[in-house]
Amino acid sequence: MEVILVENYSELSERAARIIEEQIYKSDRSILGLATGSTPLGLYEKLIEGYKRRGVSYKHIHSINLDEYLGLDKNHPGSFHTFMYENLFKDIDIPMEHIQIPDSLPSSVKEECKRYDQVIDSLGPIDLQILGIGSNGHIGFNEPGSDPNSTTHVVELAQSTRKDNAHFFGSLEEVPTHAVTMGIQSILKSRRILVLASGKRKAESVQRLLSENISENFPASHLWTHDDVTLIVDQDAYKLVSQKGSEEVAR
Ligand code: PGA
Repeated sequence: MEVILVENYSELSERAARIIEEQIYKSDRSILGLATGSTPLGLYEKLIEGYKRRGVSYKHIHSINLDEYLGLDKNHPGSFHTFMYENLFKDIDIPMEHIQIPDSLPSSVKEECKRYDQVIDSLGPIDLQILGIGSNGHIGFNEPGSDPNSTTHVVELAQSTRKDNAHFFGSLEEVPTHAVTMGIQSILKSRRILVLASGKRKAESVQRLLSENISENFPASHLWTHDDVTLIVDQDAYKLVSQKGSEEVAR
């Protein structure tokens, strides 16, 4: 795993945007794996800037999102469909038919998971997968205890995840209890993975990612089984790692 330590959130967003744009320059038909959450917001702003100011085009790009809540209309303000449209898709030239996000109200959840795996397999492999990391180490919505061999599946969200995401809703009660997520195995099929971690809230996850053995208790640890992962982390999120480092030097 390559670790890029940057000063702050703005630099993290800039570095991530540069990596995505390099991928698009390499192939304007790239398949991008996209994530929601607070972390990629700055990155998406930079990508929009790149499209508007430097003409980076998404006309032939396809995107596959990691996950979606179950039980919300896709136009609900808290859905990931809405999140992606409002924070990225409406401001770039990606064709709407190139966008893949799991259905939030499928008539059969089982069929929807099967369909999404087929989408990943037929379009993929994903060239570059963007990932945030949960405060409990989840990737996508693969919560602690998830099967490392999982493909797209339904998850019951951990209470900590619902709390972390409550700010996107009016209250904790409004956060859905279930979601459809790409599995750990589906994520690891990507050619390259870019993990973003910013802020003190992520310090513990980053420390665990960089120090613990691979285990189902900490889903992000499975990233160590992939040979092309880059972690971009800012000083606040790296805090516990650097403290430990300086304690070791002092000893
Ligand atoms: P966040 O979520 O970007 O909102 O912190 C990351 C994640 O849960 O993967």
